[in-house]
Amino acid sequence: MTDDSPIRVETHGRVGLITLHRPQQLNALNDALMDELGAALLAFDADPGIGAIVITGSDKAFAAGADIEAMADWTFMDVTQDNFITRNWETIRAVRKPVIAAVAGYAMGGGCELALACDIVVAAESARFALPEIKLAMLPGAGGTQRLPRAIGKAKAMDMCLSARMLDAQEADRYGLVSRVVPDAELLERSLALAAQIASFSLPALAAIKESVNRAWESPLTEGILFERRALYGRFASSDAHEGMHAFLDKRRPDFQHR
Ligand code: CAA
Repeated sequence: MTDDSPIRVETHGRVGLITLHRPQQLNALNDALMDELGAALLAFDADPGIGAIVITGSDKAFAAGADIEAMADWTFMDVTQDNFITRNWETIRAVRKPVIAAVAGYAMGGGCELALACDIVVAAESARFALPEIKLAMLPGAGGTQRLPRAIGKAKAMDMCLSARMLDAQEADRYGLVSRVVPDAELLERSLALAAQIASFSLPALAAIKESVNRAWESPLTEGILFERRALYGRFASSDAHEGMHAFLDKRRPDFQHR
């Protein structure tokens, strides 16, 4: 990572923090940014000292979408041969640890889709969410047409995708697009505190819960319930689960080894 890198990476105890940093382009998501974001996510995922990850942007923009300047002259062959979207946008799906999006300002197009791909979205009061690709005669192609209806239902999702309607933080909260709304001045502090709380829990248990909740999006209820039950049975192979239950009975704090 160099000084002109499009992301900044820090650790705060057991929390990995990734800050998108292309201020002149409102954090527009070009290949270089997405490649570095993917590499940073995978590095945190592999680091046993990290229990949760926060992705944030600037006060003005979480991210204003895919980089329109980069895309404007691409051809069909360019995007298929280069595997646009699949190549680097899918990495976030491979991350097993909880990922929190801390969103202030614009989360537009791919920026909104990046937030939707995270596990928890903490929105500042200033956050604005939209899928305005229709204005470009484009399509929300980083999961927007699939994750948005699952998150907020078809009626609201169609409205946002077809009319480019922008939601403020309170609307996004009401519709279930975000998890919590906080004052702008507290966004990073509250997101890091939430991540630290999550990271204090047993890592394999967190990964099992994340996998199970994600399964709810992708399978019929009966299959999802079976998946959940197997995940629950798997907890009994975990020393942390025995430690957690015994600590409760002994009225002491658990000492998780993340195993
Ligand atoms: N790509 C490239 N550059 C972008 C950009 C984007 N997505 N969004 C903003 N920028 C650039 C602008 O071109 C401008 O650059 P210059 O200073 O060199 O002119 C700079 O960032 C600041 O932007 P604005 O002057 O437009 O700032 P504003 O405050 O007036 O407006 C905004 C902010 C409403 C977010 C506006 O910038 C905007 O509408 N941006 C485009 C949003 C968009 O259409 N996103 C969807 C992209 S397509 C996509 O994401 C496809 C997909 O699913 C993968």
